[in-house]
Amino acid sequence: MTPNEDVVHPEIRLEGVSLVYEAGGSTVLALDNLHCRFAAGRVTAIIGPSGCGKSTMLQITRGFMQASRGTVSFIGPDGQPMARPPRMATVWQSFNLFPWRTVEDNVAFGLEMAGVPPTERQARAREALRLVDLTGFERKYPGQLSGGMRQRVGMARALVMDPDVLLLDEPFGALDAQTRLVLQEQLAAMVERTGKTVLLITHSIEEAILLADTVYVLTARPGRVAAEVQIDLPKPRSIASTHDARYAGYFEQIYGLLKSEVLRSMHGEVEAG
Ligand SMILES: Nc1ncnc2c1ncn2[C@@H]1O[C@H](COP(=O)(O)OP(=O)(O)OP(=O)(O)O)[C@@H](O)[C@H]1O
Ligand SMILES: [Mg+2]
Repeated sequence: MTPNEDVVHPEIRLEGVSLVYEAGGSTVLALDNLHCRFAAGRVTAIIGPSGCGKSTMLQITRGFMQASRGTVSFIGPDGQPMARPPRMATVWQSFNLFPWRTVEDNVAFGLEMAGVPPTERQARAREALRLVDLTGFERKYPGQLSGGMRQRVGMARALVMDPDVLLLDEPFGALDAQTRLVLQEQLAAMVERTGKTVLLITHSIEEAILLADTVYVLTARPGRVAAEVQIDLPKPRSIASTHDARYAGYFEQIYGLLKSEVLRSMHGEVEAG
């Protein structure tokens, strides 16, 4: 991948972020006074019950949605807010591939929009596809791929842009357990190598512990920070890290917090229904 010349891996700060959806005359408070810090060059995982506002938080961080209250700021290496937002790329929860474009042309789309010449576009798209182990599928169409392969195309499409910030909304959700493990290890290695600032939304406690430096556990809707857990396990991490004595402690802590929130959201649904 072409190295990014003026590399700036920013820290991202969400301060007092709230979001109210207004739909059909009713309002939904999705996020409530959220304070989070995504450290520069580190992986921060967000875990929380379904519907607690994780994807909303990512949209706000990306700048695609405006918070109802609060601020998102990007802090540069000098500790000051950056004049321009960093280069960000997102792997969305649904793949959003163009069905009429080949795999390679899907991956190259962002480069095309950025005016990168065709030869360089092709080389970078092929390299990104190699990283997600899809060499040989360049000329296929999304409809000819399995769900897991489409998800890897989505990952390649983000990686090809060589962003400063990588925002991942359950990037491995549709993968089988084995592919998931391999891709998790590859992502961990890539992050170590490039030092990008990564925000990872996941439903998997194991994935959060294996990949993240910090895990934010969110409450049931409206999403608030229930706890911030620092993961202090040696790197590189792999499936073997689950045998580390500290792993079980982190798992129990996060599971305990999540379980009470999931139960609370289920109660809310029963009462509301
Ligand atoms: N456009 C919208 N209008 C009204 N309510 C919305 C809208 N989008 C999301 N919501 C509501 O806001 C809440 C948060 O949604 P969001 O998609 O951010 O949750 P999530 O944590 O990503 O859920 P999941 O884990 O299922 O992906 C949900 O209760 C959802 O129903
Ligand atoms: Mg979501």
